Amino acid sequence: MKYLKIVGNKEIDGEITISGAKNAALPLIAATILSKNEIQISNLPNVVDINTFLKLIDMLGGSFKKVEDKVYIDTTKIDNTTATYDIVKTMRASILVLGPLLSRFGVCEVSLPGGCAIGQRPVDLHLKAMEQMGAVIEINHGYIKATAPNGLKGAKIVFDKVTVGGTENAVMAASMANGTTTIINAAKEPEIVQLCEIIQDAGVKIEGIGTSKIIIEGTNGELLDMKNFSVIPDRIEAGTYMCTAAICNKKLKINNIIPIHLEAVISKLEEMNFEILQEETSLTILPTNEIKPVNIITSEYPGFPTDMQAQFMALATQANGTSTIDERLFENRFMHVSELARMGADIHLNGNIATIKGNAQLNGADVMATDLRASSALVLAAIVANGETNIHRIYHLDRGYEDLEGKLSNIGVNIKRFTE
Ligand code: UD1
Repeated sequence: MKYLKIVGNKEIDGEITISGAKNAALPLIAATILSKNEIQISNLPNVVDINTFLKLIDMLGGSFKKVEDKVYIDTTKIDNTTATYDIVKTMRASILVLGPLLSRFGVCEVSLPGGCAIGQRPVDLHLKAMEQMGAVIEINHGYIKATAPNGLKGAKIVFDKVTVGGTENAVMAASMANGTTTIINAAKEPEIVQLCEIIQDAGVKIEGIGTSKIIIEGTNGELLDMKNFSVIPDRIEAGTYMCTAAICNKKLKINNIIPIHLEAVISKLEEMNFEILQEETSLTILPTNEIKPVNIITSEYPGFPTDMQAQFMALATQANGTSTIDERLFENRFMHVSELARMGADIHLNGNIATIKGNAQLNGADVMATDLRASSALVLAAIVANGETNIHRIYHLDRGYEDLEGKLSNIGVNIKRFTE
């Protein structure tokens, strides 16, 4: 297994360019299942989760080829509709093939994803949406078997809870269904907006993109005429590097971003007293004379993203005062707290609320990455800690951060990868 060794040193300087968004790319690759032609995707991040999803497409009978930073995906020859346990256990997002496979073939089997490090994460809302569109769902031997022998039918789907993956599955399923689907209480994340826009460009009539009510006119079984596209930049990767600048209290320019996707993150950094200069596709974060504490409540987009909570917790250890973070989306997303404590952070947990005392002197230690974003919080803490930190189980980081070491080394961080 690999681990990262970071020697603390706040002297960072320079620019970082953001890669394509993993969470946008995953549903977009799933959506190619609905395409009648080969698709060229650019700005696809080179991270493990994307490679796993491409492998899943291959296992289903589709094919892909990578040429420089572009990937060509051809799903026209898919002849298998089962996503097996082997692949689903490594990547929960495999559930995203459910909607498109069911809509195109009238049948689909997906291994039931289990719990994960950040909570129980059920898929009941995905299944309910498919049932509302006429699917019959059975759960047998750990597999979801969905059938719709006469095809899916347009329906009114009211999500009990805002779900990103559930909305994406419903949008993809509705695209080839018979009739109109109205999704109410839909998620509004930029990743969903891009998915809807790509499907709309492929000839499907969609109204309400980016709102909580999306209306989709299905093609009644006809495959979509999908066009080539480029994946939007990763707002969570951008936010992570903004926190890197903030925790070091140094100037850093972040390139290839869409500032509006980062509004909640920018606003919290401004509350912490950082000045941020925004341009059309980049921003620069400037140092401050005092890092102020902050109170954060995670919520659905456009609120503060749960995927940025751990990084802000690391940052809050360096604020001048006490901060709070209230995690409202996932029930067990504080695994990084005990690891940050091993480095000297003073964090008190009460249910889903973390209270973080600032002005902490962090010291290098051996720590364990527990999930993707928790791992990046450990990286941030290590960058400002005294001495050497070894971060173990970094396969979590590799799932979602493209070339983390390269990007951080370029701005002056002393970071190296070793094998245990
Ligand atoms: C996506 C993101 C993840 C992010 C999360 C919330 C991807 C690949 N992952 O995950 O990085 O942290 O959105 O912004 O895009 N829920 C149910 N039943 C369901 C589905 C969800 O109860 O059927 C619950 C979840 O347990 C959670 C909440 O709804 O408490 C939100 O989950 P959801 O938005 O579905 O997250 P994901 O799509 O899994």
